[in-house]
Formats: sequence, C-alpha cells, structure tokens
Amino acid sequence: MTFQLDLTGEQLVQNASVLKDQVVFLTGGASGFGHDTSIIAAENGAKVFIVDLNKTALDAFVDELKAKGGQVEGYIADITKPEVVRAAFDQCVKSFGVPDVVYANAGVAANDKIDFDDLGEQVQPWVDITLRINLGGLLTTSAVAQDIWAENPRPEGARKPRLVLTASLGGFAPIPGATAYCASKHATVAYWKALSDALKAGKMSGFECHAVCPFFCATPILPRITLFLLAGLPFTPISMVSKTLIYAGIGSQDQPPEHKKLVDAAGGMALLLPDDGAATALAADDYYAFSDRFEAAFEARLARNQ
Ligand SMILES: NC(=O)c1ccc[n+]([C@@H]2O[C@H](COP(=O)([O-])OP(=O)(O)OC[C@H]3O[C@@H](n4cnc5c(N)ncnc54)[C@H](O)[C@@H]3O)[C@@H](O)[C@H]2O)c1
Repeated sequence: MTFQLDLTGEQLVQNASVLKDQVVFLTGGASGFGHDTSIIAAENGAKVFIVDLNKTALDAFVDELKAKGGQVEGYIADITKPEVVRAAFDQCVKSFGVPDVVYANAGVAANDKIDFDDLGEQVQPWVDITLRINLGGLLTTSAVAQDIWAENPRPEGARKPRLVLTASLGGFAPIPGATAYCASKHATVAYWKALSDALKAGKMSGFECHAVCPFFCATPILPRITLFLLAGLPFTPISMVSKTLIYAGIGSQDQPPEHKKLVDAAGGMALLLPDDGAATALAADDYYAFSDRFEAAFEARLARNQ
C-alpha cells in the first residue's frame, strides 16, 4: 500500500470553489448522486450540463437550479446510443464550452430474476439493459469525452480535464442476486484501472481518470425490497457520495499535495465509500492489494452489526 487518504465530508468539498466557471458534463443527473452532485457544482459556480433520459424529472430539476441562479442546461439523451451521446457533448461545447469534468454516472440496477428454470427470454432483458447502460453507456461517454478533449487540446500547463466514473463497491466484491450489475461494475473498475495504467505509462495523456465506489445508498435506484432486506446496515449517505464525486472532479492540480502525489504516481485513484464514514482514496497501483483490505473492512462491519 503506497497511499491511503481518508477524507471527511468537509475535506471533500473544501476546494470546490475552483469549479467556478468550469464546465461539468454529467450523465444521470435527474436523480440520486448525479442530482446532488449537480447541485454542489452549480452552487460553486460551475456550468453544469446535465444529461438524463427522464424528461419530467430533468426539466423540473433544471428549472429549480436555474431559479436559484445556477448556470445549467438539461439534455434528454439515452447514453446507450453513441450518436446521441456525441450530440449531447456537441451541445455542451456549444452552450458552455469543452467540458473540464465529465461524470459517467448514469446507471440502473435491474434485478436478477431468481428463476433458474427460465433462463431464456425473461432473463435476457435485465442482463442486456444492465450491461448496455452501466457498461456500454459509461464506455461511450468516456470515449466521446476523450474524442472531444483530443479535438480541443489545452495549452501547455493548463488544468487537465477529469473523467470520473461512478463504479460501486459491487465492482470489487460480489453482490448475490445482482449478478449482471456486479459484472458491469467490475468491468467499470477494470476499465478505470486500465485507463490509469495507460495514463501512468504515458500511453495515453491529456486527462485524469478516477472512479468513485459507494456501498449501498438509499437513492431511487434501490428497489424497496432491497432497502428492506438491508435494513440496519450503515449505508453510505448520498451527500458523502456527491461530495466524493466533486472531490474526484476537482483534479489534482487544485488538490492538496498528497492527492496530487497519488495521481502523479498511479495515473488515477479510486475513492471508496465502504460505509457511512470517511471516503478512502486508493491509488490505482494499490488495486490488487485492496481486495484484502475490503475483506477486512467487511468483516469489521459484520462484527459491528452483530
Ligand atoms: N445507490 C446505490 O446504492 C449505488 C451504489 C453504488 C453505485 N451506484 C451507482 O451510482 C450511479 C447513480 O445511481 P443512483 O443511485 O444515483 O441512481 P438513480 O436511479 O437515483 O439515478 C440514476 C439516473 O440515471 C438515469 N439513467 C438511467 N439510464 C439512463 C440512460 N440510458 N441514459 C441516460 N440516463 C439514464 C436515470 O434516469 C436516473 O436519473 C449508478 O451508476 C449506480 O450504479 C449506486
């Protein structure tokens, strides 16, 4: 383990004012983490371009933020469609400029149907939807962001743009009953690790890439039955996840030296929110060591709740 930073809610947003006038592009902003992250970014003066496919919720939210003086624009899009994602980025560039921060955050948690006699047509849709949105949509958002950044190179010494992927602790550990979800989030973590390694080795350049990995959190993504089954566990508060997303989006140039050291050494970092406590930043280099620590943290939590 080379680096570990534990960050309280206050520390996570202490430099958020540097986002003033920066352009934030965020998917899945009409609800949950994306919703709260958009509020913090807008309150700190960022220009926030919010993408979601829920028109009713997005329109109402954007009106609310505008009424409070936020510089925001909503864009209805399905992130599984590459041409639609490209059009969303083009509109963002037109309205606000090239994004400084891109949050690939939209996701779903379609449930497994525990019916092993019927592995045919009924099962296929949730696998397909989960992987198309959580993995395909995230990769598309990331790829188009990189195209836009390559098409619009920044001057020497300017802040690098940041790509922030919403993964999950389900990207490190299995969640029984959420198999396709776990597959999508493990793939997201692997993608983050691969990008970080490529950035570290200089095989890619021009941006930073970070992953945010929350434990269960009571947003609308969780079905009521899941909330019921998990009652009593110390869920990660939504506000901690949003503040962590903001922290990841700020970028190493405007963060404390320990943070910059971590990103310079490893190419990227994952921010883990294993319970209702502090966020832990983990260097991409330490990814493989993490599974042991996850086991230990999980055992400690179980002991606490017995
Ligand atoms: N809540 C949790 O317990 C939890 C834990 C770990 C990770 N996550 C991840 O956090 C991210 C955000 O989830 P949340 O908890 O805020 O959920 P949420 O349901 O509150 O918000 C997700 C948003 O994404 C949008 N969306 C879904 N599919 C889309 C598509 N194809 N195109 C555009 N927008 C789309 C939805 O309309 C919704 O507004 C997801 O990637 C999720 O997997 C959630």
